[in-house]
Amino acid sequence: MPCGAARASLAYHNSSVSPGAGSSRSVARIFFPLRLLHVVGARPNFPKLAPVLRAGRRVGVEQVVVHTGQHYDALLSGSFFDDLGIAPPDHNLEVGSGSHAVQTARIMERFEPVVLRDKPDWVLVVGDVNSTIACALVCVKLGIKVAHVEAGLRSRDRTMPEEINRLLTDQIADLLFTPSPDADENLMAEGIPRERIRFVGNVMIDSLQKNLAAARKLPTQEQLGLTGVDYALLTLHRPSNVDMRESFERILGALEAIATKLPIVFPVHPRTRKTIAELGLSERVDAIKQLRTIDPLGYLDFLNLSSNARLVLTDSGGIQEETTALGIPCLTLRENTERPITVEMGTNVIVGTDTAKIIAAANTALNGPAKKAARQPPLWDGQTSERILDALEEFDGAPSSR
Ligand code: UD1
Repeated sequence: MPCGAARASLAYHNSSVSPGAGSSRSVARIFFPLRLLHVVGARPNFPKLAPVLRAGRRVGVEQVVVHTGQHYDALLSGSFFDDLGIAPPDHNLEVGSGSHAVQTARIMERFEPVVLRDKPDWVLVVGDVNSTIACALVCVKLGIKVAHVEAGLRSRDRTMPEEINRLLTDQIADLLFTPSPDADENLMAEGIPRERIRFVGNVMIDSLQKNLAAARKLPTQEQLGLTGVDYALLTLHRPSNVDMRESFERILGALEAIATKLPIVFPVHPRTRKTIAELGLSERVDAIKQLRTIDPLGYLDFLNLSSNARLVLTDSGGIQEETTALGIPCLTLRENTERPITVEMGTNVIVGTDTAKIIAAANTALNGPAKKAARQPPLWDGQTSERILDALEEFDGAPSSR
């Protein structure tokens, strides 16, 4: 079915959207009925789902949400649906934890009958988690069109499970929605045809812009005794940092020094909580006086803390982007990033996990001048979800697998 056949008018017509082009959209849009199936599975997926769902609802797109259940804790999943104003998913595949092979296989097995029954025009997968590649692979084998949101990002570190998920998903998806020009270049260097790539901007920023004012009104800082206090915010969950004693201890060494200067708030990911205990590091963590370990936060509470932090230390991908959008200094505790635009144009500094280097970078950020965002990356303007819908409507090609 050529989805764009009966479209009356669209504000955007092709992939070559110029920076800032989304800000003045006012053209009424009438869509040909489009049936869209969204796949989400893990925490970072939810803020990418919410704005597309909302934009689709506004123009009458029929939408179904499948949660694979990769993340099942209320703190990593349910609270995000509440915070982001998303209705509970239509299907939950309840795959839970497991090895990468088990988790990926279980998702594929349980997703196939759902997508066969639902018969969507498009399946939308987001980010780089196991749910992303698992569902994309199911679709491509069935000849169902699949689009990847946040395509083209590359850390060039194939020890990261997320890098493998990104590379493979981009090879098989029919449409690739990129958040930054470097992602387009990566895809073309890998031989992906230009006509499958759409530079649409960063959909996470749609969520951030929509929710920032509400997040700032929450009493999160007050509840943590941080009102009027300079504090740092820390997140850690990458296997390369928290599953290995050497790297975790190097990071702890730096935190011991930084916590003498200002309190550090640390919402602890379940993976990290588990490995702190397994590696016998609980006493060392507890002994850091100004390190406040707390449960993982919901989307809005986290945004409240990140938008007011003096400094953010993280190994997350999405937080590198959010701090750039917020203008908050960010130290990335990894050797590489798949989001180089946050370094080139934003507030992000890649510091790795060497104790002395982290301390030096924190001192520079705290004693100033901290790295400032030169300007916002192009198309991080809150209109990405609408550009995604336009591109789905316009695409009238057959699935690349047919
Ligand atoms: C996953 C994603 C990662 C993303 C991160 C955000 C992959 C390969 N990784 O990593 O890209 O940045 O989510 O959080 O898809 N656990 C719970 N409760 C949950 C989920 C997990 O306790 O709801 C525990 C389990 O013990 C599990 C461990 O955390 O074994 C790791 O979870 P997993 O989904 O494998 O990967 P994450 O580290 O969360």
